[in-house]
Amino acid sequence: MGIEIEADVSDVIGPVPRRLFGTFVEHMGRSVHTGIFEPGHSTSDGRGFRGDVLGLIRELGPSVVRYPGGNFVSAYRWEDGVGPVDSRPVRLDPAWHSIESNRFGLHEFAAWAEAAEVEVMYAVNLGTRGIQEAADVLEYCNHPGGTELSERRRANGADRPFGFRLWCLGNEMDGPWQVGHKTADEYGRLAAETARLMRMVDPGVELVAAGSSNREMPTFGEWERTVLEHTAGLVDHLSLHAYYQEHEGDVASYLASAAALDDYIRTTGGIIDDVLAKAGLDKKIGISVDEWNVWDQRRWNDVEQRELIDGGWREHPRIIEDDYTVTDAVVVGSLLGSLLRNVDRVTMANQAQLVNVIAPIRTEPGGRAWRQSTFHPFSLTSALAAGNSLRLTVTGDTVHTGLHGRVDVVDAAATFDEDGRCAVFLTNRATESATGVRLRIRGARLALADTWTVAVPDGHDRHRTNSADAEPVRPVPLPGATAAHDPEGTIITVTLPPLSWTALRLTAEVVRDA
Ligand code: AHR
Repeated sequence: MGIEIEADVSDVIGPVPRRLFGTFVEHMGRSVHTGIFEPGHSTSDGRGFRGDVLGLIRELGPSVVRYPGGNFVSAYRWEDGVGPVDSRPVRLDPAWHSIESNRFGLHEFAAWAEAAEVEVMYAVNLGTRGIQEAADVLEYCNHPGGTELSERRRANGADRPFGFRLWCLGNEMDGPWQVGHKTADEYGRLAAETARLMRMVDPGVELVAAGSSNREMPTFGEWERTVLEHTAGLVDHLSLHAYYQEHEGDVASYLASAAALDDYIRTTGGIIDDVLAKAGLDKKIGISVDEWNVWDQRRWNDVEQRELIDGGWREHPRIIEDDYTVTDAVVVGSLLGSLLRNVDRVTMANQAQLVNVIAPIRTEPGGRAWRQSTFHPFSLTSALAAGNSLRLTVTGDTVHTGLHGRVDVVDAAATFDEDGRCAVFLTNRATESATGVRLRIRGARLALADTWTVAVPDGHDRHRTNSADAEPVRPVPLPGATAAHDPEGTIITVTLPPLSWTALRLTAEVVRDA
């Protein structure tokens, strides 16, 4: 099997936003408690922030973190999480059938985000609450002082405003499972009025309207159109959520998930353009893919949800602690490739979630923290992708999939920055055979600096996972990769192992004059 890829360093899709490498911490399961926060853990600091987890987060390299939900936010009272910890109320969290102690709240999160060196993306509750509460939490966070809310923040220990810039107007309001679920018209009106007031309180905010929960929603398309008709003049981004899973052993379709994400983004982008044109608005609305990942939702719907409810109301029960396989890591790598290919549309993205809940990092209470298989494509792409995303032309072998039609056997993305650093990301969707790739990059004479590949470890199968005891799924160098030159640029040849994700790092020897 073989693939030819053509690129030119001057033919770019657009700059790679650092916010493409976002993540998500929700008050859900063990994401916060015994995830990022565990007072008394041997690695925790005086604030209870787990040092082993912070170390892995720095290695993972996220840029922005969405908080506090997710479904959780739609019944959340932000005031419960501020003030003296011992006076905070204990409440039911209806979204995740859990007890919320509120011992970790806004100030703790702001301090943790600073320690993790990530920007905060804060979601307001538009499920059970509305315009006033959204404006209140914004004033509490961002107003310097002299008002009741800003002075309350100062009295609670944060003299300087948090200065959160990115705000989500609710979460998945199209979903019947969402507390306070709304029609597109109801949500669009509420989001518009909330946005208007939030901009009055702090004109510097960037606002994200809630798009569809997934492409299969019966309201997909109409939801985006209606919500934007209400909000287009008031928001900067529209969210898109996308989770992928393997259906009934159909690995070919699962490995083609990035093609589905490409299509979802392009279709949503077309709707945005249409609404903006009809409204005569000369502005850009980006797509915020603020929940994406691989997630075995069938297990959650068929088994785990029932177990959660049968287990009664508990504090931070284990919820959706999926063990990720080699196959999952390969799909995550290709989804990152899709985000890179769509940087003309996607202004930010958050892998959901960060720790324990459908996460690249897992922990045991009082025990170890470890990297799941999916950790590696994220950390490598975040570290290597820089500058501009290059437009690629891919020709050669294809594979047939039941759900997504025919797709290229290799999913490819590449970036190139002004200092001549180049990164190439390749997913081999062939499950049984290696695939040869010949990639020509015009306009630069490049040297191959490093290679990493995540593939099935010797003697194992594609379901291999990592655990607290061992991390066998990890990147290893790819043997046999070469870079040669001709007058037009560089020709890279690699042989990708079956079912694998590969990253190449190249450095420029000579770049063609513009
Ligand atoms: O990330 C888990 C859940 O998935 C989020 O709470 C919700 O927004 C989505 O449906």
